[in-house]
Amino acid sequence: MRIVRSKDELRAALAPARRSGERIGLVPTMGALHGGHLSLLRAARERCDVVVMSLFVNPAQFRAGEDLAAYPRDEGRDAELAEGSGVDLLYAPTVGEVYPPGFATAVEVGGDLVGVLDGDPARRGAEHFRGVTTIVAKLLNAVGPDVAFFGHKDAQQAAVVSRMVRDLDFPVEVAVMPTVREPDGLAMSTRNAYLGDADRRRAVALSRALAAIERAVAAGTTSTPAALAAGRSELEAAGIEPEYLEARDAEDLTPADAFDGRPVLVAVAARLGAARLIDNVIIGGSKEEDAHEHPSTGA
Ligand code: PAF
Repeated sequence: MRIVRSKDELRAALAPARRSGERIGLVPTMGALHGGHLSLLRAARERCDVVVMSLFVNPAQFRAGEDLAAYPRDEGRDAELAEGSGVDLLYAPTVGEVYPPGFATAVEVGGDLVGVLDGDPARRGAEHFRGVTTIVAKLLNAVGPDVAFFGHKDAQQAAVVSRMVRDLDFPVEVAVMPTVREPDGLAMSTRNAYLGDADRRRAVALSRALAAIERAVAAGTTSTPAALAAGRSELEAAGIEPEYLEARDAEDLTPADAFDGRPVLVAVAARLGAARLIDNVIIGGSKEEDAHEHPSTGA
């Protein structure tokens, strides 16, 4: 595995593969790799000839007061895991390489997709997604991948990135892979590392809440408030007051009036001690909705 730090080195390293028409896969990460990232790398390895992983803790997607300074950084460990997962090229630029002096451009998806759930101004805000779409657009331009892989745990991020790719005609397929969970159901996340023992035990209530909602719908509940109430009781039993527990159309994130068979994203966010955790599940539609692909031309 080769490590490159500049766009020029990156482009030069990828030129032979591009000339010979090899399929290039990109897995964008902020490092601190866990099982969720490794599953994205495995998918990229299976589906692409050349696998590029980017490693960049992107300051533009952290709000003041968020965990930018505390975000775990261990490039040596990440590089070892990436190499063990079959990554060919690790792109680990500096902040100065990504945002040179005078950097003044942003890529922003408009509309409701970025103003709800995590994008609500009282939570991470639309600026968070502007930071994400700006860095992802830059990475897509720098790498020029055929496929870019994202995790479904960050379902809103995946929806926002897919919309940007579609709207701006990026010639890339966005592959959204299923959430990877700990044996007790907790969604894998870098921020799980911030959980103390007691909060780690309570954290399982998030996936339990989603499972309770799934069960309620499977048992015939179609009313959104009634189904969400089943999830709320799981959270309450663990003493968790969620930032949100909402049901929204899985594609455009408008509020879901009912569980009527169409794919509904049920998303939850909660603070437990120093950790802010998110999780979600898709209810309705085909089961493949949990791991789907957005061709650049499609929705
Ligand atoms: O999901 C993440 O780790 C980040 O938001 C991403 C996509 C690497 C952009 O910085």
